Amino acid sequence: MIKKVTPAFSLNGNITPPPDKSISQRAAIFALMHDGKSTIKNYSPAEDPQSTLNCVQMLGAEVSQLDQVVTIEGRGRYGIRALSDELDCGNSGTAMRLISGVLVGSGTAVYLIGDPSLSSRTMKRIIEPLEQMGAHILARNGEYAPLFVTREDSFKPMEYELPIASAQLKSCILLAGLFGETPTKVIETIPSRDHTERLLNLKVEDVQGKKIISASLKDEIPNQSYTIPADFSAAAFWLVAGSIIPDSEIRMNNVGLNPTRTGLLNILISMGADITIENEHDEGAEPSGDIIVRSAQLQHIDLDPKLIPNCIDELPILSVAMMYANGTSIISGAKELRHKETDRIMAITKLLDAVGAVYEEMEDGLVIRGNPEFKFESGNFQSFHDHRIAMAAAVLSLKGSTESEIEGAESAAVSYPSFWGDLAVLNK
Ligand code: S3P
Repeated sequence: MIKKVTPAFSLNGNITPPPDKSISQRAAIFALMHDGKSTIKNYSPAEDPQSTLNCVQMLGAEVSQLDQVVTIEGRGRYGIRALSDELDCGNSGTAMRLISGVLVGSGTAVYLIGDPSLSSRTMKRIIEPLEQMGAHILARNGEYAPLFVTREDSFKPMEYELPIASAQLKSCILLAGLFGETPTKVIETIPSRDHTERLLNLKVEDVQGKKIISASLKDEIPNQSYTIPADFSAAAFWLVAGSIIPDSEIRMNNVGLNPTRTGLLNILISMGADITIENEHDEGAEPSGDIIVRSAQLQHIDLDPKLIPNCIDELPILSVAMMYANGTSIISGAKELRHKETDRIMAITKLLDAVGAVYEEMEDGLVIRGNPEFKFESGNFQSFHDHRIAMAAAVLSLKGSTESEIEGAESAAVSYPSFWGDLAVLNK
């Protein structure tokens, strides 16, 4: 689908970004593992969380869904059964990696399949440690989906230091660890999103600056009855749009403010953004609040590579903010971006090329020469079937002098089905 986006002179209004994708997917998987009923309010209607919900149903959970309220009758750790030979994870890396951990722990044998994008993302990072825990995993070329996941040996708990800052890998190992008589310990040096630890109430120790998270059979899996906050990663598009389009004011209520997710908030504030937070409160185990953003002149920034896991999904839209900041900005230490739904460093360079922005590409990031006065006529953008690239292209299109076009715009629905409607509300 090609979407045409008209320039914006200002953006104004209140919107509700979609429910958090990461939390929705975890809520569904943990509710399957809970022995009893969970009522999840504000479950995401987006494609990835819906793929996860289908997988959970195919693993034996009774699922009903009405007006974004999802009820799941969980099977408990030992009631998990594959009702089909194959589980379709769609576009979702989180579904494939987290569910692999559950399958290995519970000793359930099944194929995991995905769309062409997911089938081209490496699964080696989970295959190697899961095999040390007793799994037997068949993968195309040893690393790509379809995966056949099974466990032939007895389950072996382990101590595992994460070689990369990845919440999907961390969660995969911890979910398998929940089936061990003795604790599996995951050691994390650079913090990544901590929804799994919070929602499962796992033991977390701080030892000499490293986090050690433990999981075993002794951990009771709590029911997942809570309200999911709006997705900060979806709000991120409006935080940047509201900052760089003049005379703008956008309000978003009940947005997730988990500090392992809000790197972009602090980055934009240190770039000079005008952002206010109100009504901070907890929604279940997760903090949330209302965010108001108003236009501001942004300054350049040299990002600390340690902050990257904290804003990994926001780097495409942050690159658009950097284009309109005063001075040269640097993103480095972000090689993980090359392993997302597409190679996002490449995809960002294509966005910048489409409008003639000045930048340098590095293996692990970008140097972007910002210019608050930067003008372009219009852009012909490609989403590369990546939701976050489609939405970053839409925000950039608002700065053109005439209508721009985005090819593959439908991919926004992977995380934000109402994105185009919200854009129309704000750009009146
Ligand atoms: C996610 C973790 C991140 C993120 C992805 C969702 C999660 O990936 O990019 O969109 O829900 O755990 P990595 O853990 O691979 O960095």
